[in-house]
Amino acid sequence: TKTEKPQHFISTADLTKEQLYNLLTRSIELKVEAKYNVSTPVRPLTGKTLAVMFSKRSTRTRVATESAMAYLGGHSMFLGSQDIQLGVNESLLDTSRVVSSMVDGIMARVNGHDEIETLAKESSVPIINALSDKYHPTQILADLVALHEYRHHGSINPAEYTAHQQHPSETLPGLKVAWVGDANNILQELMVALPKVGIHLTAACPEGYTCQQDVLEIAQAEAKREGTTLAFTHDPEEAVKDADVIVTDTWVSMGQEEEKAKRLAEFKGYQVTMDLAKRGGAKPDWVFMHCLPRKPEEVDDEVFYSDRSLVFPEAENRKWTIMAVLDSLLVKKSL
Ligand code: CP
Ligand code: NVA
Repeated sequence: TKTEKPQHFISTADLTKEQLYNLLTRSIELKVEAKYNVSTPVRPLTGKTLAVMFSKRSTRTRVATESAMAYLGGHSMFLGSQDIQLGVNESLLDTSRVVSSMVDGIMARVNGHDEIETLAKESSVPIINALSDKYHPTQILADLVALHEYRHHGSINPAEYTAHQQHPSETLPGLKVAWVGDANNILQELMVALPKVGIHLTAACPEGYTCQQDVLEIAQAEAKREGTTLAFTHDPEEAVKDADVIVTDTWVSMGQEEEKAKRLAEFKGYQVTMDLAKRGGAKPDWVFMHCLPRKPEEVDDEVFYSDRSLVFPEAENRKWTIMAVLDSLLVKKSL
């Protein structure tokens, strides 16, 4: 019932290792079931509604969420910034209490991370963070499933999708990920998620671009517990040394449009190219990831559209991973 405190999904930092792996394996199960018609859909969310409250633009997260909700039998109600302005026409507190009294879950894309925290505090139904300026948890689930699949099938687009023989705990640990880019929400989510599944992370960000202290502390504690490396540098070549995976994101996140010229200048030398990987000494079979939307500044076309690029399977996996989150929070009521 709605009187109990609901569980939310604000960041993978809040998940145990087991909860994180469970979300990955549930995503794969749902993908196999839905995409390859392995079994009859159950539609466990028939009659349920998800409010999709987005203060910022979105292609992937919105399409993934609405199509996942439809597959599970529920209804999603998109409330964009023109329809409802979080904290503008009405306080966040009032909005949260009102909306949560009528729906079964809320997926929210916000500006400041404090907004998602207020929603979570006041809402009587589960809140899912669809991106804040601090974290982007549903993105990193999709990244991990894409990496698992790549390791498992040895290909980014398997012709047939069969039940997985290996658990992600057999494919992910030991991987070395290099981040070359901004110290933003995607890097911060990677920092708290990757060590949990045994993945090493080295991040190159320009001088003056640093992660939040509390995120760094969570990530360091996690890395220590799992025995993974977590390192930072200002040198992209150093970051990609021995990397299995090179990841980046836009240099100008939503809300930073006014800093564009300054950022483009300060990120000089940070574009991901075949040459950078070679100069830095990435593993010969390194793969590329990017949450999208992508601009050519941060990665050139040669890498982005190459056989090394996992970006499109990664984007598709937004659907299966968000489906697993909805299935966990709205059906099982726990992660
Ligand atoms: N990666 C991602 O969140 O994309 P959208 O902004 O299009 O949802
Ligand atoms: N860092 C980007 C991610 C977009 C999915 C942003 O916050 O705009």
